[in-house]
Amino acid sequence: MCGIVGYIGSKQAAPILLDGLSKLEYRGYDSAGIAVRDGADKVKIVKAKGRLKGLIEKTDDGHAVPGTCGIGHTRWATHGEPSETNAHPHVSDDGNVVGVHNGIIENYQELKVKLLKKGYEFYSSTDTEVAVKLVDYYYKKYEHTPVDAINHAMVRIRGSYALAMMFAEYPDEIYVARKDSPMIIGVSDGNCYVASDVPAILKYTRNVYYIGNMEIGRLADGKAAFYNLDGDEIEKELVEIKWDAEAAEKGGFEHFMMKEIHEQPKAILDTMNSKIKDGRIDLSDVGLSEEDIKGIDQIYIVACGSAYHTGVVTQYVMEDLARVPVRVELASEFRYRNPILNKDDLVIVVSQSGETADTLAGLRLAKEQGVKTMGIVNVVGSSIAREADNVFYTMAGPEISVATTKAYSAQLIAGYLLSVEFARVRGTITEEQYQGYITEMKTLPEKIDKIIEDKERIQWFASKQANARDIFFVGRGIDYAICMEGSLKLKEISYIHSEAYAAGELKHGTISLIEDGILVIGSLTQDSLYEKTISNMVECKSRGASLMGLTNFGNYSIEDTADFVVYVPKTDPHFAASLAVIPLQLLGYYVSVARGLDVDKPRNLAKSVTVE
Ligand code: F6R
Repeated sequence: MCGIVGYIGSKQAAPILLDGLSKLEYRGYDSAGIAVRDGADKVKIVKAKGRLKGLIEKTDDGHAVPGTCGIGHTRWATHGEPSETNAHPHVSDDGNVVGVHNGIIENYQELKVKLLKKGYEFYSSTDTEVAVKLVDYYYKKYEHTPVDAINHAMVRIRGSYALAMMFAEYPDEIYVARKDSPMIIGVSDGNCYVASDVPAILKYTRNVYYIGNMEIGRLADGKAAFYNLDGDEIEKELVEIKWDAEAAEKGGFEHFMMKEIHEQPKAILDTMNSKIKDGRIDLSDVGLSEEDIKGIDQIYIVACGSAYHTGVVTQYVMEDLARVPVRVELASEFRYRNPILNKDDLVIVVSQSGETADTLAGLRLAKEQGVKTMGIVNVVGSSIAREADNVFYTMAGPEISVATTKAYSAQLIAGYLLSVEFARVRGTITEEQYQGYITEMKTLPEKIDKIIEDKERIQWFASKQANARDIFFVGRGIDYAICMEGSLKLKEISYIHSEAYAAGELKHGTISLIEDGILVIGSLTQDSLYEKTISNMVECKSRGASLMGLTNFGNYSIEDTADFVVYVPKTDPHFAASLAVIPLQLLGYYVSVARGLDVDKPRNLAKSVTVE
């Protein structure tokens, strides 16, 4: 939610800021702005409502704003509508402090009242303007030193923030601070970079510092220095980013989403390879010992959105194979529910970004209660990765499209690997079954490639659905979990209303919504439940629905019932979600394209939800 960039060095700042923002636009795209300083000259601020291209045009690709020090922002509105006035950067009344912010300042009203009393005026409805003016207030009240001013403001602010600021009296410096919102600092050859996420600066450097919670950074003279809340300088380790720069570009595809759909075989292969050594699953880098695994009484999986959906799949697989009770919880509910956690429970939080505010809060709640925690995370060095007791990294690489595809697939693999290993350690499967599951998992990448090869058929079917009003997804067991993800993918990028139902639930109310022409998609990968779900689909058909079936090659009797069928290669039923989700991702993608929508940046959404 919101993207921040900053640059200070020997080059012109504005083109670097705009380029960085273009890599972060997935984090918010309601408005954008930059502030650039040219030596001791007054800072120049340019903002534009709407997509970044407006700002690029307004600044003539950045050439109209000269200077070698600057900060930029792309916004996902929280406080205050999307408008040029509410766009960042915000500036203190006399131009002393200019800043950009990502996050939410919860007590901004209270702070605003205080500042109004001190004579400050406000031109926007944002919480960011309050933060900038609060820093200005402390700057003037104390010794005119930025670190002290920011420290005082940090103590007063409640909520989450990543802040980048410039001070008029320190023309060649940028200051940053963070709490619970992501931010990295990159350095290379006398230049310093600030970004909310790696892709924004990958082109310029791979050497980054992760700034910790409640820490401040000062960037000047090509170096970064860090301070704690007492103002004492702290040491930080420079970390090398291993991501492939190519992976953060579109690489010839029309949209990131399509590129990322194609990257799924690699994402899951890389995730498997990171844990399968000499034909056996090795969780030693995760930090879970066999003793730990044997001692677990119950698992909680806590996540949001698609990550939650992978948790639902893992629940079915883990319970069936390892016979450990699993509860899957929406993080936004879990964190406020006062859950009953016991000392032998394991709380697994799943998150691509590793920054989702609710998931992070769920993790902290579990830690406060002394329960062992594990993060399944894609972004190295993210807050969840740093705070969880154990981390299982998915190896999906940078995911740019707002709608997740390859990170979802990698999370599924993480769930399978954990389930199969837990089952072996707890003695609920034989060695032969263990080997069989590993062998089968390894066939998934190739099978996914095969499904993707046939994408034109789905494109044809999707073009017929472009004007649909409602689409229902039904399935049982793992198929129900597949439906949840298929339905979310469709609705979030096509804006067509869609619901996923456990097929057996239809008769308890929902079937009254079925009328002539409504599309019902049945997921039927689980042979033991095939006939049952077909019966539910027939009930819809007799009320006017048209039917799409999604099933395994060989289940040709579906042709008697469904109007359109998509077949996926056979696999072990536990791993079916990895294959069945692919046609549903493609369906969502092609419907969105057919409707002329912005696939990668659907309205009202942002890639990482760092506010609750
Ligand atoms: C949907 C989607 C979201 C995310 C959710 C959690 O396509 O991407 O539902 O899955 O916002 O995000 P992470 O995994 O970053 O915690």
